[in-house]
This record gives sequence, C-alpha cells and structure tokens, in this order.
Amino acid sequence: MNKSIYDFTEVFEVVMHRPAEVLDAEVNAIEQLLARRHVHSGRILELACGACAHGIPLAQHGHEVTGIDRSAAMLATAAENAQQTGVALTLVQGDVINFTLPTADFDAAIFMFETFPVITEYTDLMSHFNAVRRHLKPGGLYIIDLDARRQGVGVNTGEWGRQTLPLANGWVEMWQEEFPGDWVRNVSHMTMRCRICLDGVIHETVDDWHLRVYNPWDLTVLIGTLAGWRLDGFYRWQDLGRDISAEQHYLLVLEAV
Ligand SMILES: C[S@@+](CC[C@H](N)C(=O)[O-])C[C@H]1O[C@@H](n2cnc3c(N)ncnc32)[C@H](O)[C@@H]1O
Repeated sequence: MNKSIYDFTEVFEVVMHRPAEVLDAEVNAIEQLLARRHVHSGRILELACGACAHGIPLAQHGHEVTGIDRSAAMLATAAENAQQTGVALTLVQGDVINFTLPTADFDAAIFMFETFPVITEYTDLMSHFNAVRRHLKPGGLYIIDLDARRQGVGVNTGEWGRQTLPLANGWVEMWQEEFPGDWVRNVSHMTMRCRICLDGVIHETVDDWHLRVYNPWDLTVLIGTLAGWRLDGFYRWQDLGRDISAEQHYLLVLEAV
C-alpha cells in the first residue's frame, strides 16, 4: 500500500505550511464564537485533528480537547506536541464519517483546514452530521472551515504545483496531478505525490484525493433539511465578519438543536 503524506508529519507541516498568524486568528475566532455562548473553558471535539494544530492552543487556553483522526502517525505527533506543550489531550483513532466516543456532551466540534470536502457521498454526509450531533450538547456549535477557492469541478487535467522544499534533515519534492472532475457529484479528483529524502533515505508518498465542492448556497439548503441542526451563519475567520464573498476560506457555523 502507498504511504501517505500523513505518515510523514514533519513533511506535511512543510508542504501544507500555514503561517502562525492564520492559526492564531482561527483559534481566536473559535474562542470568540464560544464566548458568545458563554463557553470559556469548554469541551471541544476536533475532527480530523491531525497534529491538533488548533486543539493544542485551545487546550493551552483552558479548554478540554478530544481529537479524532484516522492517521496513527498524525495522532502520534499530536500526542508528542501536546506533551511538549504541557497540555493533556484525549486522542482517538477513527473515521469522522461515523464514530462513537466514550463521552458526548461537547460544547463544540471543529473541522479545520478545509478537510470537510473529504466527505463526498450523500450517505456519508448524513452519517457524519448524525455522529457529530450525537456528541454535542443542545446549543453546541459545529464550526467547519471550508475552502472557497474551488468554485466548481475542474475540466483541466495535468500536473501542477511541482516544487522542492527543504526539510530539517533532507528535502521533499512534491507535485499534484489533476484528473477530470465528476460534475454530477461535484467531486474533484487529484493525486498528490511526494519524493522525500530523510537522512539520505528516499521515501515516496501518494495521496489520491476526492474532494467535493461545497458552496454556501447548497449548504444553506442542505442544513435546512437536517434534523437536529440550525444554521448559525457563515463567517470570516479573520474577524468573524459576515461578508465572505472575497475569502479563500471561511467558517460555517451550525448550532445543535
Ligand atoms: C489537511 S490535514 C488537517 C489536520 C488538522 N485539522 C490541521 O488543521 O492541521 C487532514 C487530516 O484529516 C485526516 N482525515 C482525512 N479523512 C479522514 C476521515 N475520514 N476520518 C478521520 N480523519 C481523516 C487525515 O488523516 C489528516 O490528519
């Protein structure tokens, strides 16, 4: 089986680098949304948490964080980072499409870094919203960071984004290949490949990504049909402004009812 970029967390951090200011602003937005509900040290469920880039600062600020991810390597990095930062996290290996945790009654769930589009199928979407709802208190928030760059399924194919980046103990060459999208399901398809040199040893990763293109209009209609949820709104992650028309990514906020 192919190795994934998520098996090499130090490479993931370089290839998908986010400036610290962006992470800080996103964490701040999450906390402001919670503070509006008078939640200051809440129980937060981080979905597809990876290395808990948001969960660790939230735990540092006094929240109790549980992270769920299917990658053992990403969870191991989350545990290591938590230990180094001196915070306790509960980490669970599992699939965000359907999961049952030993505890529910979370004040909020978060699904960050534009990862929600991995849910491509309607049945998976229903299963996912039901699973998240079961774990939230009534009035709990579900905050989803969504990509606004992909406005539709591409018809272009071919390679893009080839670059070589330095690592602490080697380098990574990465490139992506885009295949024709499935416009019926509104799902794009791309493969990200990496050649990684770590201490002189070459590794290769291949990630085949199918990502559904979600947009605010469709989400508004969809959420209106879901039992147990109310649409709170769409927000800018920088300042919780409501005009998201010029954004590259934005926060969708749902309330559990
Ligand atoms: C782009 S990373 C984002 C990680 C983290 N949220 C962050 O902000 O750094 C995507 C993560 O989603 C996880 N993931 C993807 N699909 C998943 C699924 N169906 N269930 C659980 N985890 C999943 C991957 O293992 C990976 O850690």
